Amino acid sequence: MTGKGLEDVIAAQTSISDIDGKMGRLFYVGYDIHDLAPHATFEEIIHLLHDLRLPTETELDNLNEQLIAEREISPFIEDLMPTMASQTSPMSMLRTTVSAMSAYDPDGWDQSERANYRKAMRLIARFTTVVAAYDRLRNELEPVRPNPKLSHAANFLYMLKGIEPNDEDARTLDMCLVLHADHTMNASTFTARVVASTLADIHSATTAAIASLKGPLHGGANEAVMKMLLEIKDVSRAEEYIKQKLAQREKIMGFGHRVYKTEDPRATHLRRLSQQLGEQMGDTRWYEISKKIEEVVMAEKGLYPNVDFYAASVYYCLGIPVDLFTPVFAASRVAGWTAHVREQYADNRIIRPESEYIGPRGRKWQPIEERG
Ligand SMILES: CC(C)(COP(=O)(O)OP(=O)(O)OC[C@H]1O[C@@H](n2cnc3c(N)ncnc32)[C@H](O)[C@@H]1OP(=O)(O)O)[C@@H](O)C(=O)NCCC(=O)NCCS
Repeated sequence: MTGKGLEDVIAAQTSISDIDGKMGRLFYVGYDIHDLAPHATFEEIIHLLHDLRLPTETELDNLNEQLIAEREISPFIEDLMPTMASQTSPMSMLRTTVSAMSAYDPDGWDQSERANYRKAMRLIARFTTVVAAYDRLRNELEPVRPNPKLSHAANFLYMLKGIEPNDEDARTLDMCLVLHADHTMNASTFTARVVASTLADIHSATTAAIASLKGPLHGGANEAVMKMLLEIKDVSRAEEYIKQKLAQREKIMGFGHRVYKTEDPRATHLRRLSQQLGEQMGDTRWYEISKKIEEVVMAEKGLYPNVDFYAASVYYCLGIPVDLFTPVFAASRVAGWTAHVREQYADNRIIRPESEYIGPRGRKWQPIEERG
């Protein structure tokens, strides 16, 4: 029997991303995340993950054009949005909407390599459109049409708030999207690859990945972190709050990782962004509380923060509603999911592991009236 939770099992070969858990390093197609984070745009990362190299200027222009052209959602999805906004939570909306998107995809059921590439770009382009439209509608506001002059990150903030973000906010969100775009065989990416390995379509694989990301042990942790910060409210209460939770054997959201045995390299950048944004706003409260929690969790449990911990205060300072934090994670990770799905299709074998049976054996059929 392998480790519970498939610990240490290599479930796929990939050229997309790589982690060194002992050294706390993350690479996208051979580039260190510390090199990419300050330089790359999310659009460049999309190209990197899908084409396995950074784009030339012309390639980036073409990709930008394609993504911008695909931002608008179909009338079918537009009609669905008011019901979604009034009836569902954000991640359920995303899961259902992405599933529904397959009905009117211009490439239909074409499963060719090129069609799947176009579907991937369409999915990446539209995630932010549905998330922003959902938030506008539930607040009884008109959805804002995408602005073709803005980058993917800036356009999301624009569609969400109805005003163009300043350059710092747009770049901060852009960096968050870069940091979240891919992360080897995490639960949602593995889910996407399992579905793709049956040769089910890319929308099905992406829908399943969203369902997997939704849980609090995976993408849902960023929302839980912010709820905790809001509950703590003041840095003076942080130590006691965390100690109490730990005494009750509760997990502290945003800490621990299956693979990293040291600091998650993404947390390094998000911690800095959290501090910078707080200083810009003249309110470093959420950063200060987070720092204190980090100190206490390290002293009590020896655990490091993961990607979700400082992402929470960053998104909050950007004015993103707390229950949209996980959809924002999804809006970035869809770049990785779709790249992995295409990689799986390109050299497929159905993913079908074994299980170890631990139930009773040799039982004999009993007619219903004889069962006690
Ligand atoms: C990420 C996570 C799911 C990894 O799970 P895992 O590899 O199965 O690790 P385990 O849950 O088995 O944890 C190992 C030990 O560390 C403890 N631990 C792990 N994460 C912890 C946390 N966030 N708070 C407190 N204790 C934690 C566990 O209780 C366990 O202790 P034990 O051996 O005394 O029972 C887990 O660390 C977690 O639940 N973190 C909180 C949720 C989160 O932030 N998820 C986002 C991940 S990017």
